[in-house]
Amino acid sequence: MLCEDRILFFSVGFLLFSVVISEIPLGSKLSVVENNYWTSSNGDFAIRFFNRSDQYSVGIHFNSNSIPLCKQTVVWVAGADLIVGNNSYFQLTRNGELVLFDSTRGVVAWTSKTSNSSVASAALLDSGSLVLLNIKREIVWQSFDTPTDTLLPGQNLSVNQTLRGASRNSVSSYYSLHLEGQLQLRWENNVVYWQSKSPPQTIPRAILGSDGTLQLLDQRSKVVWSVFGEDHNDSDVKLRFLRLDVDGNLRLYSWIDVLKSWRPVWQAIENQCDVFATCGLRGICVFNVSGSPLCRCPFTPTSNSNLKCLVPYGNECKSGSFMTAYEHTFLYEIYPPNKTIALASLQQCKSLCQEDPLCTAVSYTNDGTAQCRIMKTPYITGQSNPSLRSISFVKKCSDPIAALPVSPASSSSSQHRLCIPCLIGVGSATFVFFFVIQIGIGFYIYKKRTHILRKAALAYTGPDSKGLISLSFSEISELTGIFKHEIGPNMFKGTLPSNRPIIVKDLKDGMEGRKFRSTVLKIGSIYHRNLVHLEGYCCESNHRFLVYEFAENGSLATCMEDPKLCKRLTWVKRMEICLTVARAIAYLHTGCREFVSHGNLKCENVVLDENFEAKVSEFGLDRVHAETDVKDFGKMVVELVSGRREGDDFCEWAYEMWVKGEGEKVIDGRIEGGINIEQLEKVLRIAFWCLHVDEQMRPSMGEVTNVLEGTLSVDPPPPPFIPRRPQQEEEISESD
Ligand SMILES: *[C@@H]1O[C@H](CO)[C@@H](O)[C@H](O)[C@H]1NC(C)=O
Ligand SMILES: *[C@@H]1O[C@H](CO)[C@@H](O)[C@H](O)[C@H]1NC(C)=O
Ligand SMILES: *[C@@H]1O[C@H](CO)[C@@H](O)[C@H](O)[C@H]1NC(C)=O
Repeated sequence: MLCEDRILFFSVGFLLFSVVISEIPLGSKLSVVENNYWTSSNGDFAIRFFNRSDQYSVGIHFNSNSIPLCKQTVVWVAGADLIVGNNSYFQLTRNGELVLFDSTRGVVAWTSKTSNSSVASAALLDSGSLVLLNIKREIVWQSFDTPTDTLLPGQNLSVNQTLRGASRNSVSSYYSLHLEGQLQLRWENNVVYWQSKSPPQTIPRAILGSDGTLQLLDQRSKVVWSVFGEDHNDSDVKLRFLRLDVDGNLRLYSWIDVLKSWRPVWQAIENQCDVFATCGLRGICVFNVSGSPLCRCPFTPTSNSNLKCLVPYGNECKSGSFMTAYEHTFLYEIYPPNKTIALASLQQCKSLCQEDPLCTAVSYTNDGTAQCRIMKTPYITGQSNPSLRSISFVKKCSDPIAALPVSPASSSSSQHRLCIPCLIGVGSATFVFFFVIQIGIGFYIYKKRTHILRKAALAYTGPDSKGLISLSFSEISELTGIFKHEIGPNMFKGTLPSNRPIIVKDLKDGMEGRKFRSTVLKIGSIYHRNLVHLEGYCCESNHRFLVYEFAENGSLATCMEDPKLCKRLTWVKRMEICLTVARAIAYLHTGCREFVSHGNLKCENVVLDENFEAKVSEFGLDRVHAETDVKDFGKMVVELVSGRREGDDFCEWAYEMWVKGEGEKVIDGRIEGGINIEQLEKVLRIAFWCLHVDEQMRPSMGEVTNVLEGTLSVDPPPPPFIPRRPQQEEEISESD
C-alpha cells in the first residue's frame, strides 16, 4: 500500500517533470532577477543567466547532478559575448522568437529571428541543444546551429559556422575554428596555424560523435578524417565536449566522474608554442619539457618591468643601432601579417636588417635553403626551443633611453600603450594558470569574443545594427593601420573591412574598465542627427579607445585653420553650426533617458560631415560637471564668430568690444559674403550669458536653442566676468 503510494507519487512527479520542464511554452521567460532556468529532461543541461564581469549572459551549461557547480561549464551563449544588465530577461515571445532584452541599453540585444517561422514551443534537448519547434514538432531553429566555442556530441560544424575561442582580453584571443576544405585553426582569420590533413575533397560538415570522435564527413556522410581521445571507446564516459580554448588550442574533454573533473583527452596542437602568438606581442614562447610553455620577454634593456618585451628600437633612435642575437629563436610578425623573405646567408641577413632603417628584427632559418625573414614592425612574437635551428637578431638602439618610448608605427604612442600588450604577453606565461582557472571556474570567467573584424564589418554594414562593437587593441591597431593617420590630437583615421572610414580616439585616461564600459554603453545608445555616433570601443588593459563614424571634413578647429575649408565657413554657415551644436547639446541634456553632459565641448569636438553639417563628438564621458557645457558653448560661439581661439582673455576682450558697441571688431575678417549685424548682436548676447561666471545666471541649452532659432528674445547680458581674486592679489603685489 505504502509502496504503491510511492510509485504513484513518483510517476506523477515524473509526469510533471517531463511536461513542465522539457517543453517551454510561448511566453516563457528567464530573468536575471528571478535566476530561473529551463533544463533538459535528462537534467544534463540547463539554460539560465550567469554572471560575467559584473554583468550577465544567458547560456546553456552542464547541469548534471554529478558535476559540481563550479565545473558546470557553459557550452553555448546567446549572442556569444553579449553581456547585459542586471534587469535583463530572455523570453520566448508569443511570436515564437527568442529575445534577449538588455536592461542597460534598453534594447533587444539578441534574437533568434524566428517570428515568421510559426514557432509553437521550445525545448532544451537532452543533447544540450535549445530548439524551437513548430506545430508539427519540427525543429525550425536550434542553438547547435550558432555554436560559440564548444561542440557537444551530435553537434555539426558546417562550412559557414565557426567556433571562436573565449577572450582573455589579449592579443591571443583571435582564435577561431573554421571548416573550409579542412578543419582550420586560425588567428585573426588570416593566419592558419593548424589544419586537419584530410584528403582534398568537398567536406560539408564536421561532427563530434557521442563516442568522442571528431570526424569530417563527405557529402554522403562517409567519414573521411577523424581524431579521437584516448578514452574514445570508454563507455563509462557519459559527458564530453570539444572546445576551442582561450589559449587557441582545440581540445576534447571527458567528464571523469571519479576525479570530478573534465580531462582533456585530445588536443590539436601538441606544443603550445606552435599556437600562433601564444605569448602575445613581443613575447617569446619558450619550450618547456614539463609541458606548460613559458612566455619570456627577452628584448629588454631596462629594469623597468613595464617595458619588458618591447622591441627597443624605433625611428627616433638617433644614436645608431646594433643587432642582438637570439639563438634557437624564431620570430614572426603579427602586424602587418605580410613579411619579406630574402635568400641570404646569416651574415647577410643580419646586415640586411642593420642597414634598413625600418627593419626591427630578422629571423634566419636554414632547412636546406637559407631564408632571412625581415620584420619591419614592432608587433612581433615568437618561440624558442633548443631544437629550433633558427637564429634571430633584434635591432636595438645604442642609446636605449632615447629609443624606449618610441614605436616606429606610432610616434604618438605613449609607453604604456606599447607595453600593455607586452604585459599581456607576460601574462600569458601563466596560461596554464588561466587554463586551470577556466576549467575550474567554468562559466564564471567566460568572456566570449565574436567581434572579429569580419563580424565587425557585417555589423557595420547593417544600418539597423544596434550593438556597439567591442574591439581589442590589436583590432584597433589593424583598423588604423597601426595608427598611421593621426588626424588630430590622439585621433586616428581608420578603415573598416567594409572600407567605411572611421575615427579612432585614444582617450589616454585609463578610466576604470567597468565605468568605461557602462559609459560607452550609455553613449552608444544615444542617437541624434547632430551627435557623432559611437560605433565601437576598445577596453583592454589600459587602452581606452572610442570608434566613431567618420566625418569627411574633420573638426571645426581644423576647418577654421585650413584656408581652403575656412572659405566655406560663411556667416550663414557659422550661425547654422551654432544652432546645430546648441540643439545637439540640448538633446544630450534633456532628450536622453538620463542627463548626459558633454563635458568637453570645444571646436575640436565638433566635426563637419561631407555636407558641412556639424556633429558633436566625444560627448558623455562624464569628465567634468555638466554646467561647463553651457560655458563651453559660449566660448565656442565667440571662437566661431571671431575665428580666434585664444581662450578666456579673448572672450573678455570680445565682451569689452561689445559693451563699447564695437561688436563688429570681434568678427573673423576672413568671412566672405557679408554678415548679419542683428544676428551678431543676438549670438554675442547669448554667448556672454553662457559665459557668466555664476552658473545660476547661465541659460539652459534649451533656452539657448530657442534664442538662436528666434523663438525667444535675449536681453543684454550682465558683465559675465566678475573681477577675480588673483587680480586683487596682483594689485597688492604691485603696491608692495
Ligand atoms: C543593477 O545595476 C545598477 C546599475 O547598473 C545598480 O545601480 C544596481 O545596484 C544593480 N542592482 C543589483 C541588485 O545589483
Ligand atoms: C547534422 O547534419 C546532418 C546532415 O546535414 C543532419 O542530418 C543532422 O540532423 C544534423 N544534426 C544536427 C544535430 O543538427
Ligand atoms: C579501445 O580502442 C583501442 C584502440 O583504439 C583498443 O585497443 C581497445 O581494445 C579498445 N577498448 C575497448 C574496451 O574496446
